[in-house]
Amino acid sequence: MIVTIDGVAASGKSSVSSGVARALGVPYVSSGLLYRAAALLALEAGAALEDEAAVLVLLEGSGLRLEPLAEGNRVWAGGRELTPDLHSTRVDKGVSAVASLPGVRAWVDAQLRALPQPFVAEGRDMGTNVFPHAQAKFYLTASPRVRAERRARERPEDIPAIEAALTKRDEADRRQISPAVDALVIDTGPLDLQGVIEVILSALPEHE
Ligand code: C5P
Repeated sequence: MIVTIDGVAASGKSSVSSGVARALGVPYVSSGLLYRAAALLALEAGAALEDEAAVLVLLEGSGLRLEPLAEGNRVWAGGRELTPDLHSTRVDKGVSAVASLPGVRAWVDAQLRALPQPFVAEGRDMGTNVFPHAQAKFYLTASPRVRAERRARERPEDIPAIEAALTKRDEADRRQISPAVDALVIDTGPLDLQGVIEVILSALPEHE
């Protein structure tokens, strides 16, 4: 069984996917981390983020590997763990450019399809492109202001800047983000984390 949870940036996909995966006793798979890792490798190598051939050479040579765990995914490049470096501001800013390269998308898709199933797959196009035959599909939305408020819980003065950055990333990701026609769209604005997880679990077809 594959459950897909797609949605806009900072809509709570990772926390929701982790919670749903734990309830089902399966891992979750964060596709965004692979795009973030591709951006990090390009930035570290000084490659242009639009240079598809250069980014693909880096990916092929990196030994990049996603370790899907229910409690949080980890990414490795050979023996080096990239996970702590994948949410920096420079990766946030650069990732959409790398993710718009068709060759990079094909590379990430192949990694995801090769992972042992079942799992919960989280990203932008899990239900549309990567796992179109998934048994259950969800799409999370929330207004840019709600998402910025969640991100900036400890620093309210940062909300306008975070909201602007999220809106910019939504715009850059637009090609990748649209709900699958058979996805249940959930506005997470009025719900807390547990509330979203419960909506998803109650909508799942009976599983063994
Ligand atoms: O999910 P997260 O915000 O970590 O994803 C980082 C970036 O990776 C997104 O802004 C988007 O550019 C890209 N992405 C994508 N397709 C996916 C998952 C992520 O293009 N399935």
